[in-house]
Amino acid sequence: MSKYMENAEKAFEKLRTKKDVTILAVESSCDETAVSVVRNGREVLSNIVASQIDIHKKFGGVVPEVASRNHVMAISGCYKEALKEAGISENEIDAIAVTYGAGLIGALLVGINFAKTLAYALNLPLIAVSHVHGHISANYLSHPSLKPPFVCLMVSGGHTALLKVNDYTKISLIGSTVDDSVGECFDKVARVLGLSYPGGPNIDRLAKQGQNSIKFNYHEPLKDTFNFSFSGLKTAVVNFVHNHEQAGKEFNKADVACTFQEIVTDELSEKAVKCALKENSKTLVVAGGVGANSRLREKLKEKCEKENITVYFPDLKYCTDNAAMIGSMAYYYLKSNIGLSDLTLTGKPNVPISI
Ligand code: KG4
Ligand code: ZN
Repeated sequence: MSKYMENAEKAFEKLRTKKDVTILAVESSCDETAVSVVRNGREVLSNIVASQIDIHKKFGGVVPEVASRNHVMAISGCYKEALKEAGISENEIDAIAVTYGAGLIGALLVGINFAKTLAYALNLPLIAVSHVHGHISANYLSHPSLKPPFVCLMVSGGHTALLKVNDYTKISLIGSTVDDSVGECFDKVARVLGLSYPGGPNIDRLAKQGQNSIKFNYHEPLKDTFNFSFSGLKTAVVNFVHNHEQAGKEFNKADVACTFQEIVTDELSEKAVKCALKENSKTLVVAGGVGANSRLREKLKEKCEKENITVYFPDLKYCTDNAAMIGSMAYYYLKSNIGLSDLTLTGKPNVPISI
């Protein structure tokens, strides 16, 4: 074993019982370059996010190679800024955490190589964190007294799933999408309506001016299961728009956005509440970028109140990608003695959710 790894193992062991643990976390899985300093899994000392949204907007979506290059350019600046905002020096960091997957491989590698270099140079343990677990942890930052067990509705650009979070690092998959993720559908529908990337927030905004009045030609969502399917609806919306455009028939874009959003948020909120009831969970936690959707929030609040379930959403700044959520989850990995990585760590485009 290398000298570095010998030291890292000893330090990791010691940190498990240390009173205050300060973790510097790095996230670069998609189009946000982010560095954050988090203490004891809950206290955010800094949260720097350099968004590439304006760069990818002109392409209508994230271009992986462009994302990687921009991560390279932004990451050192984010690191310096994160230390400055936290008001700490490098020798006050106890461990380095980094997202190792799921995500775009080239984008992930930028954050991973930066984190490995830091870990080696500062002689600190390196903790490899799953991006999806980070999204769950975003809720621990927004709600100081929230603790597992709970049911989680995970709705991001990459995932749509119902999870049972039995403990911080005991997570099992109950159901997931059998085709597209819900974020992907929001982005695709937005694109066909001529709205800019990322589509979700633009659909959310436009839908407020429309009516739930359109009959899309598609099969009803999957019933009697906690799995989801969104590709049929997505294709139906795309066909509706194309058919109208080709025939020169007028249609109201806001009505398309509104009807699409109503169908999707009905499906998500109904299944999430059903799942919490089936699992006897009085707590439902929402995670991921689509968790910012205003109608999803409204419907879940209403349905949960009726069923006497408490529903939690992350603050909007922790809903979409950030490194604070990675620093939070890294703390719980540390407490459970998992995630310690050596310097051969590499990126994974896909990572299983269950642990
Ligand atoms: O969790 P996230 O930041 O990235 C992944 O890990 O994938 O989620 C990004 C997704 C995008 O598809 C974006 O359009 C969607 O979250 N999103 C929204 C809203 N804000 C972001 N979707 C619907 N309504 C929103 N308000
Ligand atoms: Zn994400």
